[in-house]
Amino acid sequence: MTDQTYHLLGVMGWPVMHSLSPMMHDHWFAQTGLPGRYVYLPLPPERLGPALRALPALNFAGCNLTIPHKLKAMEIVDEVDPVARKIGAISCVVVRKDGSLFGTNNDWLGFLGNLREAVPDWRGAAGPATVIGAGGGSRAICHALLSEGAPEVRLVNRTGERAERLAADIGGPVTVLPWEARHAALDGAVTLVNTTSLGMVGQPPLDLTLDALAPEAVVSDIIYTPLETDLILRARARGNRAVGGLGMLLHQGPAAWKLWFGLEPRVTPDLRAKMEDRLGGNG
Ligand code: ATR
Repeated sequence: MTDQTYHLLGVMGWPVMHSLSPMMHDHWFAQTGLPGRYVYLPLPPERLGPALRALPALNFAGCNLTIPHKLKAMEIVDEVDPVARKIGAISCVVVRKDGSLFGTNNDWLGFLGNLREAVPDWRGAAGPATVIGAGGGSRAICHALLSEGAPEVRLVNRTGERAERLAADIGGPVTVLPWEARHAALDGAVTLVNTTSLGMVGQPPLDLTLDALAPEAVVSDIIYTPLETDLILRARARGNRAVGGLGMLLHQGPAAWKLWFGLEPRVTPDLRAKMEDRLGGNG
């Protein structure tokens, strides 16, 4: 009998057919020579539990989770990584040898991998960071910045309450500032991150005056549609180094593979170009 090994992975979401993950992970199946396939798993919320429970029987190595499943899945899996619990969401499930499900969150590693690739000399510990927005993305990023030793995270959100809750959950030196203080909150920051949906295709741009930002500060946006937001373009035009959000998606991938298969595929320029093509509508 020929070798019957075939690894399955997928992304559960609703909607999910816009996801770039299948393209990315299938690229790595081809690159590593591991036999397998990463599939779309469009799944309304009521089917999340049964679907997750079916993963071991179907021989899935694990899956990724996207909107709206990241919170609910925490109650379904057998064990949740403490970091994911702190962030408040799981984005990755690992099927363990005994068939149990382990939930974790690699988004914060994706953020750091992206920043390190684009700006190798970036040091989060070099000074305060200013984070705009306090949604799900922001939680992973605040954790990433604190884990890198940021002495202060200045958190600005339209809805102050949500920022206060984030600060309490994440712990550490997080200062919550009112939305009106966002321009001044850039003074002395070495890192600026937009985690709001402002600047995304179909949304208004982020209204943020960069005058107080030091030219050495590094600017990052978690948005990747468009690949470069108005914030990224304005930051670059005034001399700041700035990085878009596509790399965050790319760089959480190897962290997931490490958990699924014990190996870390590379984020190569040809993979990035393929993803950019797809986003540009050429894929
Ligand atoms: P995600 O999980 O992707 O971060 P989210 O939880 O919906 O998405 O968070 C979206 C973020 O964008 C929030 O910080 C939101 O601010 P509120 O908490 O006040 O809602 C922010 N955001 C969205 N539209 C905004 C707008 N027009 N002005 C300011 N902030 C906005």
